[in-house]
Parts: sequence; C-alpha cells; structure tokens
Amino acid sequence: MNHQTSRHAVVHAPHGPESIEILDVPVAEPGPGQVRVKVAAAAVNPVDLDVTGGGLHRLGLVTQPEHTGLGADFSGVVEAAGDDVDLVVGTRVAGFLGGFDRDHGSHADHVVVAAADVAVLPDGLCPNVAASAPLALTTAAQLLEVLGAAPAEGRRLLVTGAAGGVGAAVAALAAERGWEVTGLARAGDEAFVRGLGVDFTAAPRAGWDVVVDAAAMQDEAVTLVRDGGRFVGVKPGLEPREERGISVDVVVSHPDGPLLARLLDRVVDGTVPVRIHAALPLAEIVGAYRLLAKGGVRGRVVVLP
Ligand SMILES: NC(=O)c1ccc[n+]([C@@H]2O[C@H](COP(=O)([O-])OP(=O)(O)OC[C@H]3O[C@@H](n4cnc5c(N)ncnc54)[C@H](OP(=O)(O)O)[C@@H]3O)[C@@H](O)[C@H]2O)c1
Repeated sequence: MNHQTSRHAVVHAPHGPESIEILDVPVAEPGPGQVRVKVAAAAVNPVDLDVTGGGLHRLGLVTQPEHTGLGADFSGVVEAAGDDVDLVVGTRVAGFLGGFDRDHGSHADHVVVAAADVAVLPDGLCPNVAASAPLALTTAAQLLEVLGAAPAEGRRLLVTGAAGGVGAAVAALAAERGWEVTGLARAGDEAFVRGLGVDFTAAPRAGWDVVVDAAAMQDEAVTLVRDGGRFVGVKPGLEPREERGISVDVVVSHPDGPLLARLLDRVVDGTVPVRIHAALPLAEIVGAYRLLAKGGVRGRVVVLP
C-alpha cells in the first residue's frame, strides 16, 4: 500500500493560467503494462494553454466531471512497474500522454502511463530536453508519415511555424525525404530556420505544392497552396474548408515509445532540434503558463517537480 501523495496541476473552471490549482492526491499504482514515472521535468505545450483557457471545454472536447489534469510531455525515472513490463525501476524515460481530456496530466510529481508509450533516454540526454521533445517530435514524425516521401514533381513544401517545436522538426525531417523545404517564421528566426538546412521566408507568396501548417494559420495557410495542392494541418476538429482542388489532411498525434526512442537519438546527434526557453519549479506553474501565454517564446517552458 502506498501512502505517498503526489502534486497534480489541474483546472476546475478554466479561464487562463490563474485558474490552475495544485492538488495533493494519493500516488497511483501502475496496472498491468503500465509504469509509474517520478517526473523529473515536464514541458508546457500550446495545447496545455488551450486547456487552461477553457476553449476545448467550450468545444465539448474536454468533458471531465471534476477537474482536468494538465500536461502531456514528461521525462523522469520509472518508480514502479506493473505486471508484464520489461522496464526496470530506476530507468530514465520520456513520453507524452495522448489527448487532453483527462483528470491527471504530467504537470505533477508522478504520472502513470503505458510502458509501450515511453522511450528509454539515450545516454547524454538531459531531463529538461527529454521532457521537451516527445509531443512535438512525435507529432512531426507522424505528420511526415501522412506527408510521405517527396514525389518526382511538385515537391515545393512550405512549413509554417518553422521556428516552433513541431515545425522545426518537420522542416528538418522533410528535407531528408527529398522535399524542397522553405520554413515560414518571424524575421528574427531566419538564422535558426536556415540552420535546419532549409530555405526561409517571413512573407511567402502563394503557389506552394504543399503547405504543412505547424503555425496553425489555418485558412490563411490554405491560401498559400497552389490549385490542386495539399494542406496538412495540426488542428483536429478545425479542418479548413477544401477549396480549389486542394486536399486537406489533419494530424492527430499518438504516443509511440519506439518511434520516440528513434527521435531522441536524433536529438542527441543534433539532427532534430529541441529548444528550451525557461525552467521553473512546479510550484510556480502559473508563472510558467503566463510566460508561454505572453508569446514570443522560443523553445519550451519546462516545469520541474
Ligand atoms: N494535432 C496534434 O496532435 C498536435 C500535436 C502537437 C501540437 N499541435 C499543434 O501544433 C501547433 C504547433 O505546436 P508547437 O508546439 O510547434 O508550437 P510552438 O513551439 O509555439 O510553435 C509555433 C510557432 O509558430 C509561429 N507562428 C505563429 N503564427 C505565425 C505566423 N503568422 N508567421 C510566422 N510564424 C508564426 C510561432 O511564432 P510566435 O511565437 O512569434 O507567434 C511559433 O514559433 C500548435 O497549434 C499545437 O496546438 C497539434
């Protein structure tokens, strides 16, 4: 029997960062196929801000009766393992919780998660970087699967939000797959985007074969696609209208431990970027969310239990 308690950041009546509360709850035991991770670091993603803002509740996408748990990304150490789990206690892991309609999240002292959803950290990867990678990089890699390899004709790809977590990884990985990539970002992001090995624009003209919309510009990004081209978005449930023969795909990421393990290796070898803006104690989580909400952040804001 475990009598420890664990702090969990939640919202009851979401109306922005100031509505975040920290609850003390009993530490949960992992079931079959699950591990309990003692969280070392947990990144704050744009979707977490959306949850605290209440927009997803109003859309009916979050329906928790009591409170909604915050946080998807985490890194930490396996503290307990259920039946049928190969991971041993003490293993350093990272992962993310799928979806956002849940009563507990990773902005907490502990998280219980399927062992298949986590990756073992490669040597040399620090917890803060490991906690900033899972959701963004997995989304990028799964988006690349939707995109596929570049065709012989029509390989001009614009990636919006190329200075962001998802967009930078998409840009780097798509270039490897033969796409002729241009990253759209703010003027001040030019050096970073070019450093990914792709072209840069802050003011694109229309006419791209494909637009991957990692900045969630939505309809505005569709206008940049040529007639009969492709749009790949990141906002499920908010798909832009199809027009001018443009095909529309939207990616919904899901946890995949083996995929994440391969991506973390790429972070260590420096070929897929992960940036950190700031790290704050879990007790200062309201400030961490406010920092992200203010905008202009480059890299993840990380909370440390
Ligand atoms: N579907 C899924 O499963 C899934 C999973 C993960 C993420 N997402 C979504 O994917 C999006 C990107 O996530 P992320 O983690 O990469 O966010 P991020 O790190 O905040 O990156 C977004 C980037 O887009 C830039 N941007 C926004 N509007 C722009 C514009 N008009 N021109 C140029 N740059 C612009 C932002 O710059 P500024 O800061 O200067 O605005 C920022 O650099 C979010 O909407 C997130 O909710 C979806």
